[in-house]
Amino acid sequence: MQSTINLSANTQHYIDLEEKYGAHNYHPLPVVLNRGEGVFVWDVGGRRYYDFLSGYSAVNQGHCHPKIIAALTKQASQLTLTSRAFHNSLLGEYEQIITTYFGYDKVLPMNTGVEAVETALKLARKWAYEVKKVAAEQAVIVTCESNFHGRTTGVITFSTDPSAKNNFGPFTGGYTTVDYNNLTALEKSFQDKNVAAFLFEPIQGEAGVMVPDDGYLTGVRNLCTEYNVLMIADEIQTGLARTGKMLACDHENVRPDILILGKALSGGVLPVSAVLADDEIMLTIKPGEHGSTYGGNPLACAVAIAALAVLKDENMCENAEVMGELLRSEIRKLNSPFISLVRGKGLLNAIVIKHSNPEAAWDLCLTLKENGLLAKPTHGDKIRFAPPLLITKEQVMDCVNIIDRSLQTLA
Ligand SMILES: Cc1ncc(COP(=O)(O)O)c(C=O)c1O
Repeated sequence: MQSTINLSANTQHYIDLEEKYGAHNYHPLPVVLNRGEGVFVWDVGGRRYYDFLSGYSAVNQGHCHPKIIAALTKQASQLTLTSRAFHNSLLGEYEQIITTYFGYDKVLPMNTGVEAVETALKLARKWAYEVKKVAAEQAVIVTCESNFHGRTTGVITFSTDPSAKNNFGPFTGGYTTVDYNNLTALEKSFQDKNVAAFLFEPIQGEAGVMVPDDGYLTGVRNLCTEYNVLMIADEIQTGLARTGKMLACDHENVRPDILILGKALSGGVLPVSAVLADDEIMLTIKPGEHGSTYGGNPLACAVAIAALAVLKDENMCENAEVMGELLRSEIRKLNSPFISLVRGKGLLNAIVIKHSNPEAAWDLCLTLKENGLLAKPTHGDKIRFAPPLLITKEQVMDCVNIIDRSLQTLA
């Protein structure tokens, strides 16, 4: 087992700079990257690694995809930001493309994922008061145990992870939490007439790739329809071909009332997020009531148009489905005593480490790094395996070999 490793002076230099001048709000693996292409990234010493995190599923299309970078560089020298005080010549085209792509009347463009979540929550409250006629200030939004929707003070209000909330209060009201993957609990929460919406992840990513039972998504849809509650799917991590379908909700042919996208909407190039909904919901927000300086900027529009095209043109759903199946079955075949579970859908996967040492998952990630594969533990004992979606069969087999060799160093 390898709990300490020797770093080159150059690598240590970059790490020390971050340690000294940057806030200590992350705990990265000790590797310093300066180049990426496809499924690979390179460190400052020129060593190549498979990227099994893909920027938390932002880099679905692969690092520096040439078509996305071409769109970026072309637009970057033409016009980057107008603000929404003026129109720009790309926003309408992008809005037409993305609404047609996902089948909604309208889109509201934002930047980071959590901003899109905040937007969806505001839309749900507006709809509750103006359409559903919930009494003033009484709207409730139901969320799930172990959710992850981002880091603003509003969104951490309904986090159930103490480390996300500790000493960040006071929090806002209007939220209740139910167990994930539990339709009975969900229906019980809907007995409150003030419930406006149910916000959930179709697979809980940060919680360690928690895949709900078959039928859960359909059950959620049916309950939301029956009780006149908006179904809000946060597909920021599960969306855009990651799970083997364009949206994770597509696995059960279910259409959310509000769809939240982010991350891979730019292929890992810029923060680009979006909220999609039909007019009855979207038109409750009027001019001046919500916005963002960068939301809908022409650079983001050009990049997102290219990023969406690449997903379809390169059959990334199909590849994610097939390669994910292969990855899970080959890891199961290793029969490692240190893996208690392999789970996932498409190329959103996790292994759960079983070991007497609570640091074993971290140590394994250090060894994986030494062997040329980058992955990061979540919640102590889980390691997410989520490479870019263009990974090939040969590369998957090479990675399984790296995982096998690395597991053997755990004793
Ligand atoms: C499901 C989900 N929602 C929201 C977010 C927040 O996105 P961002 O970090 O871009 O604000 C994330 C990020 O990991 C996520 O996985």
